[in-house]
Amino acid sequence: MSIAESSFHYVADLVRRETSMLYEQGKEYLVEARLLPLAREAGDSDVDVYVSRLMTDAAERRKAIDALTINETSWFRDNAPYQAFTDVLLPQAIAARQATRKISIWSAACSSGQEAYSLSMLLDQHLPLGWTAEILATDVSTAMLGRVKAGRYSQVEMNRGLPATHLVRYFTRVGSEWEVSADLRRIVTTQHLNLATTFPPLPTFDIVFLRNVLIYFDLDTKRDILRRVHARVAPGGSLLLGSSETTLDLTDSWEREAVGRVQVHRPVPAAGAFGLTAPTRAAV
Ligand SMILES: C[S@@+](CC[C@H](N)C(=O)[O-])C[C@H]1O[C@@H](n2cnc3c(N)ncnc32)[C@H](O)[C@@H]1O
Repeated sequence: MSIAESSFHYVADLVRRETSMLYEQGKEYLVEARLLPLAREAGDSDVDVYVSRLMTDAAERRKAIDALTINETSWFRDNAPYQAFTDVLLPQAIAARQATRKISIWSAACSSGQEAYSLSMLLDQHLPLGWTAEILATDVSTAMLGRVKAGRYSQVEMNRGLPATHLVRYFTRVGSEWEVSADLRRIVTTQHLNLATTFPPLPTFDIVFLRNVLIYFDLDTKRDILRRVHARVAPGGSLLLGSSETTLDLTDSWEREAVGRVQVHRPVPAAGAFGLTAPTRAAV
């Protein structure tokens, strides 16, 4: 069985409009694999019938978009960014925030929350007494945000990168799942946010994890997102991208610095920040 070309185009356009994610030709199998379970659930005979349903059913469209966002993630994904966080980025943020004793982190495109909760475990271990921290976890998928809030993971998900010591320390078993501790959940708040459109009002963050999501966008969208994220990183703060992502050749408003095995991106102050020219602030 294979999805009709017109159905594939409809779905690719829909996902692009709603999330800016690109489903290019050759990804028909992926669209089909992701929509088939929804088609069955809706009682449709195949994916093409289901795609016709999408044309008139807004609630079903939401479900389909959720199913088509790529939510691949794991605990302490790639390790090196988390090592850099513990060794360098967090100590730098602590040095910069002596006045407020509060650290602010953004897990942008958080998927089911393993990134945000991995960071909250490190904060639990390395934040000095008397300090507080906030992690804002955002995603375009409401289903994923629901998972972050629930903080529950299957055994298969737990097996992907979580050290056994952390399982014992931070999780309790609930039926067939594992639930993250209330202490870690208190640090993490969720918000719906589409990176590809104007951001809602946001604070500035000491550290931003924007990992493994830029790869899905075209060049203009990547540049636009990096421009808007730039305005949300505190001076001297840090941005971490996925291991195959970079700001190189996209924009010169970030400086790159090797920290261990990762490139940390630091915002170059906007033109005019030193009083040389009047700052122009584009909409963020
Ligand atoms: C591959 S996961 C990455 C998760 C995590 N950052 C990591 O590195 O493990 C990509 C996430 O980006 C989200 N996403 C896709 N398009 C988005 C958009 N336009 N705005 C915000 N999030 C988006 C998806 O829903 C998905 O949860």
